[in-house]
Amino acid sequence: MSSLLIKNIKTLAQTRDHIDAPLRGKEMAELPTIDNAFFLIENGKISDFGEMKDCPTNADETIDASGKMVFPCWCDSHTHLVFAATREGEFVDRIKGLTYQEIAQRGGGILNSARRLRDTPEEVLLEDAYARLQEVIRQGTGAIEIKSGYGLTLESELKMLRVIRQLKGMTDATIKATFLGAHALPPEFKENRNGYIDLIINEMIPRIADEGLADYCDVFCEKVAFTPQETERIIETGLKYGLRPKIHTNQFNCMGGIQAAIRHNALSVDHLEVVNEEEIAALQAAPNTIATLLPSAPFFLNDHYPPVRKLMDADIPIALATDYNPGSSPSGKMSFVVSLACVKMRMIPEEAINAATLNGAFAIDCQQDMGSITRGKSANFFITKKISSLAQLPYSFGSNLVEQVFIQGKKV
Ligand code: NIG
Ligand code: FE
Repeated sequence: MSSLLIKNIKTLAQTRDHIDAPLRGKEMAELPTIDNAFFLIENGKISDFGEMKDCPTNADETIDASGKMVFPCWCDSHTHLVFAATREGEFVDRIKGLTYQEIAQRGGGILNSARRLRDTPEEVLLEDAYARLQEVIRQGTGAIEIKSGYGLTLESELKMLRVIRQLKGMTDATIKATFLGAHALPPEFKENRNGYIDLIINEMIPRIADEGLADYCDVFCEKVAFTPQETERIIETGLKYGLRPKIHTNQFNCMGGIQAAIRHNALSVDHLEVVNEEEIAALQAAPNTIATLLPSAPFFLNDHYPPVRKLMDADIPIALATDYNPGSSPSGKMSFVVSLACVKMRMIPEEAINAATLNGAFAIDCQQDMGSITRGKSANFFITKKISSLAQLPYSFGSNLVEQVFIQGKKV
């Protein structure tokens, strides 16, 4: 039995008893906190917390957090952090005027990453991905979803998913794996779209499920990628093999991706930079589906941001994630995403923090163990530097205010 006591905490944030549904509507603006708090961790789990007047007197180790705040770790529910190479050439091409879609149509973008990944040995991918993972954990991320999707052949998709499986064994942070074979149409199937979809359905998904390599199934439903009909074929097969859908959709076009995802009980629909009234109504009628917004993608692509207020007014639960990937968001820094959500989407800090912690946990099904300061959950949390208020976290967007990170009660 080992115990860690954190005392004199200026504010302990996101303190909750059991909560069984993602936050929506007005709930998003309520972030429960305790001022002048203590926080007790036993054997890697949250065992107690409350006001200092009720603070226990001894523990194996004590930290004085005077002037500092404590938050549950970020839950980053959408990333592509296994990749072979950065793509700053495309970044410069966009500055000079090309769009993300034009670059994709010329065989760059995801296909560029896929060519690089095919030639990169598994050990190298693992080493690089592990370094990125450690970096984001030090920035306060305690649970993360990672997608395949730069393989686009059976062997390379398996290679990516095996890297993710190895990462799971190398960290105490929670990792969920998503199969994204339908990220782009590989050039060898240019004249045979159905051939690639058949490969995904008949070979990739069964093999991946057989090896237990994925938790979820994703499709990029977009004009430069796959249609809603193709998306449905793939996610139907995923569901048959126990992989619940989490879908990339509405990044650039409204084309029925949200409706296709909802019909198959998607856990989340991600991006949503463009959404029409019909799609908002469809989401409103699908309370089990979370809208995951990725504001660092439109930031980096210099595009427009999702209509978050409309979505929240329709009682749709919102999660925030980084989309960490080499093309549209080469950053896994959740605190920057929270700042962008506040500045560019006009979320108040409480809404953004709820979306980046508890609702993020729901978006990867780890709400039983993550996302809030709740007795019995894993002690994944961070202590800030001395700060004057909760709003300083998104306000000081260029500073690193995360001082110490703990995963399962252990200091990182
Ligand atoms: O979420 N849009 C599709 N997939 C990623 C980008 C992948 C890439 O450009 O490498 C995204 O933005
Ligand atoms: Fe993505």
